[in-house]
Amino acid sequence: MNQIYVHGYHPRENERLQDQAGTLEDLLHAGTAFPAGSKVLEAGCGVGAQTLALARRSPEAHFTCIDISAVSGAAARRRAAAAGTTQVAFRQADLLALPFDAGSFDHVFVCFVLEHLRQPAQALAELSRLLRRGGTLTVIEGDHGATCFHPDSDDAHAAIRCQVELQHRAGGNALIGRQLRPLLAEAGFKDVRVRPRMVYVDASRPGLADGFTRKTFIAMIEGVREASVAAGLIEPERFDAGLQALHRTTGSDGVFCYTFFKGVGEKA
Ligand SMILES: C[S@@+](CC[C@H](N)C(=O)[O-])C[C@H]1O[C@@H](n2cnc3c(N)ncnc32)[C@H](O)[C@@H]1O
Repeated sequence: MNQIYVHGYHPRENERLQDQAGTLEDLLHAGTAFPAGSKVLEAGCGVGAQTLALARRSPEAHFTCIDISAVSGAAARRRAAAAGTTQVAFRQADLLALPFDAGSFDHVFVCFVLEHLRQPAQALAELSRLLRRGGTLTVIEGDHGATCFHPDSDDAHAAIRCQVELQHRAGGNALIGRQLRPLLAEAGFKDVRVRPRMVYVDASRPGLADGFTRKTFIAMIEGVREASVAAGLIEPERFDAGLQALHRTTGSDGVFCYTFFKGVGEKA
């Protein structure tokens, strides 16, 4: 990989991605189904956290899933094997230089990957090359600027800004969700539709408070504590106060909202 992947490849990060995928399956994947016999490329599959959901929802499609990390790809392969899935093949590859012929795929799916790339436009151009004319690209990204919560807390926002800044320094963009439409349009996709998918969590949804607010979002922010302090972005006391405030949003009178953006475009 030509840049640092800000979340790293630790077992705890793998668990976080699985929690995220499990908790958000309906929210993220509703509306995505690929026809029988179609060839689908999942680019940046990671540990396969989205792969099984994709396969379940399109039981007669064939998936080729690639990731630049051999370790993550091996974990994804083990997961698919354990689930008895036979419609998925995994390969290690860089999505900026994929070993497939032009027009090889009917559909491409990308989730939480563009935000980590220094060249998202170049990645979209490469993925477009691999699509047949009339094929579709589906992309899902977050946007940490689209986070709001109650009780509000400047310390929590400061801790979140540390994650955004570290990701920026690593060449990524944690605010990329809002840019999906221009990115897809500039890459030449037609009929681009981007829709927000908001996660809304309050005390009436304890499963989401645990699976999303705590185990996905707060876990991600916790994961950059040491790096943020080491980079001089924040005092440790303020970061910890921010974390405490984020945990407070999972209380009986708390609310937490985050918006993902899902875009679909057709290869012209
Ligand atoms: C946040 S993870 C998302 C994984 C999965 N799509 C999901 O939703 O759980 C981002 C993944 O993109 C992969 N990645 C980053 N740059 C890549 C590149 N140039 N080519 C292929 N994969 C890449 C990383 O190795 C990592 O597994």
